[in-house]
Amino acid sequence: MYSVKQISSQQTYAVRQPVLRPGKHIDSCIFDGDDLPQTVHFGVYDSDNLVGIVSVFRVSHPDFANANQYQLRGMAVLPTHQKKGLGDLLLEAAENYIKQQGTDLIWFNAREVAVGFYSKAGYTISGELFEIPTVGPHYVMFKLV
Ligand SMILES: CC(C)(COP(=O)(O)OP(=O)(O)OC[C@H]1O[C@@H](n2cnc3c(N)ncnc32)[C@H](O)[C@@H]1OP(=O)(O)O)[C@@H](O)C(=O)NCCC(=O)NCCS
Repeated sequence: MYSVKQISSQQTYAVRQPVLRPGKHIDSCIFDGDDLPQTVHFGVYDSDNLVGIVSVFRVSHPDFANANQYQLRGMAVLPTHQKKGLGDLLLEAAENYIKQQGTDLIWFNAREVAVGFYSKAGYTISGELFEIPTVGPHYVMFKLV
């Protein structure tokens, strides 16, 4: 019933906008590097309907010395489909892709409200809570792969 597929950056907007940028202009859904060749986007479908997304960027964080790092961005599941295991399905797809790239470390800026979700998936907080303007409080989280 649910399937995960690679999608385009433009396809992510249908979930990025309502879940991550509610009430904001569609341009706020465009992330730097979305269309770089090393960037990939995954979508989870309920039949033909896109209901969740995550994106993978080849970006390093200055706090980590590891040579090969990937950043997750734009993890979101529509409210109608949350708490059904779809976030975990998306994480699994992203992690499988990242592991195939010879990566040492996965990191991201986690919304404070989502820290429990990522902790369950084996990610660790690094450093202090910080504010991303217009989005809210975040922690850097990471996992060695
Ligand atoms: C965070 C989010 C992606 C999780 O997706 P989801 O499909 O609801 O997550 P899952 O159903 O796969 O949850 C996996 C596990 O994490 C738990 N979990 C999910 N969201 C959680 C949260 N916010 N806090 C603590 N635990 C959480 C689930 O209960 C489940 O636990 P279990 O395996 O013991 O049953 C989703 O809630 C979402 O889109 N939230 C709004 C946007 C957001 O905050 N995105 C993250 C930006 S960094």
